[in-house]
Amino acid sequence: MKIRRSDRSAPGANSALSAGMEADVLSVRNGQLFIDEISVVELVERFGSPIFVYSEVQLRRNVRRIRAAFAKAWPDGPVDVLPAFKASPMLATRAILSEEGAGADIYSPEELDGVLRTPVDRALVSVNGGGKSREHLRRCVAEGVRITVEDVHEIDLIQEVAAELGEVAKIRFRVKPAFPGLWRRTDFSQMSVPIDLGVQVYKSGIPPEYLVEMGRRVFQMPNVELVGLHFHAGRHHPSTWYWKGLMTRYGRLIGELCKAWNGWRPSEIDIGGGFPSRRDPLNKEFPRSEFVLTALAYPFMVGLRGLGEKAYHAVMARAVPAMLHRSEKAPPPEIEAFAEAAVSTLRSELKHAGIDTAGIRLQVEPGRWLYGDTAVHLTRVKVIKRQTKPIPYSWVLTDTTAFFLAGGVFEHNRHPFVVAARADAAPVMTADLVGHSCFADMIAPGARFPAVDPGDVIALLEVGAYQESSASNFNALPRPATILVNGTDAEVVKRAETVEDVWGRDIVPERLRGKSSAAPAGQVAGSDR
Ligand SMILES: Cc1ncc(COP(=O)(O)O)c(C=O)c1O
Repeated sequence: MKIRRSDRSAPGANSALSAGMEADVLSVRNGQLFIDEISVVELVERFGSPIFVYSEVQLRRNVRRIRAAFAKAWPDGPVDVLPAFKASPMLATRAILSEEGAGADIYSPEELDGVLRTPVDRALVSVNGGGKSREHLRRCVAEGVRITVEDVHEIDLIQEVAAELGEVAKIRFRVKPAFPGLWRRTDFSQMSVPIDLGVQVYKSGIPPEYLVEMGRRVFQMPNVELVGLHFHAGRHHPSTWYWKGLMTRYGRLIGELCKAWNGWRPSEIDIGGGFPSRRDPLNKEFPRSEFVLTALAYPFMVGLRGLGEKAYHAVMARAVPAMLHRSEKAPPPEIEAFAEAAVSTLRSELKHAGIDTAGIRLQVEPGRWLYGDTAVHLTRVKVIKRQTKPIPYSWVLTDTTAFFLAGGVFEHNRHPFVVAARADAAPVMTADLVGHSCFADMIAPGARFPAVDPGDVIALLEVGAYQESSASNFNALPRPATILVNGTDAEVVKRAETVEDVWGRDIVPERLRGKSSAAPAGQVAGSDR
């Protein structure tokens, strides 16, 4: 995308913004960042900071777009979009998706509960996860959702609960083929691990050795019907090469199973998620080359101390900016390219195995691609801190924290950001963008900033997936509110936590309560502070 600019006179916005395709809900108007039709500065003035802001327009646009992309590539049968609820477990955004006819990939009983609070089509809900409990399976069968089986023994439990309920449970096997052809390094690891190994060590999925026998047993079960197969590996690599590799082996395994099961044919094939989002922030925080560089440079840095403190710091002052420099990676291909690559490979493998694809439903479970560019995280600058000695260094300290963007920390994300009131301005300084917790709280090390002052609003982009859902309360910081914008409207769809929420689960045993404290246990600490 290019962030749309209504005043084309002002080129040169932060280069992190200029990746991707058009049709973006973010725009720059007279130097100000807008989400849909509202200035993000106005949103902070109205709702405070930090906040997450989601765009209804972008979410609807994305779900329609991915469905159309896969429908074009898969003319054989219906295409269902089953967004991964874990990426953005909010009831308002979920209600939008249900209205759009999307299903859901869910994991926990609680996620199932959330999804079922919206008018979702039960047949399009895939319940994943290992170690499902009897109660969870019972609710799945009673609600008529798809059970995506991950454990060998799960089928017996499903038969039992389905028989008790007098229902036929519709299940799919989550499979786990090997991918020896996927030799490039997985982005899930900071070390050099081939994708194949990355998939193998990932816990989910039934190892192929059990599948044939499990299928044969299910065909004997009166209350269980195997309706399809499921596979999800995740975003190990942001390329169509990766998807071709996945679909080659997945398609081949489907062919082998159909043969072993005497011509059984799946009525639905789920290819999971793992498509990179528009600005693909994953694994950009610490490029792998840095590990090598710093490892090689370390003895040199230590050795420099022999020159004396002054010379050591003089050299380091030059070395640190070079070490922090990051070159922009190219944006990933568009979703249409992934759809074409994945589906054409899958179709040709299925055809090769003699499987008639007519009428088979194709299902996709986007998480990061669907939600990534639908949200921004807004924070105000609190302090600009600078040191000149012994080495020059600067920090832009904000009122948010990396603990509110914890999904990104796990995945070594580097979220692009914009100084909202100067979205077009050229960068003039380098500093670490940091949060205000006592941890190092690194949001973007060595980032380039235009002129920036305390009070300025910074918009972190590409935070719609896995960020709000992984926020935590480190330093007892209450988690921020979420706002949904639609055109010029903005409303709170998840209120901010209060300090009472932060302490609300705590129980101070009677014997530890000070004599002076008369408050109930759960409120003792909170109300005292
Ligand atoms: C079963 C399943 N499907 C889909 C997804 C979405 O993955 P992504 O966000 O990489 O698209 C996940 C995420 O872990 C998942 O576990």
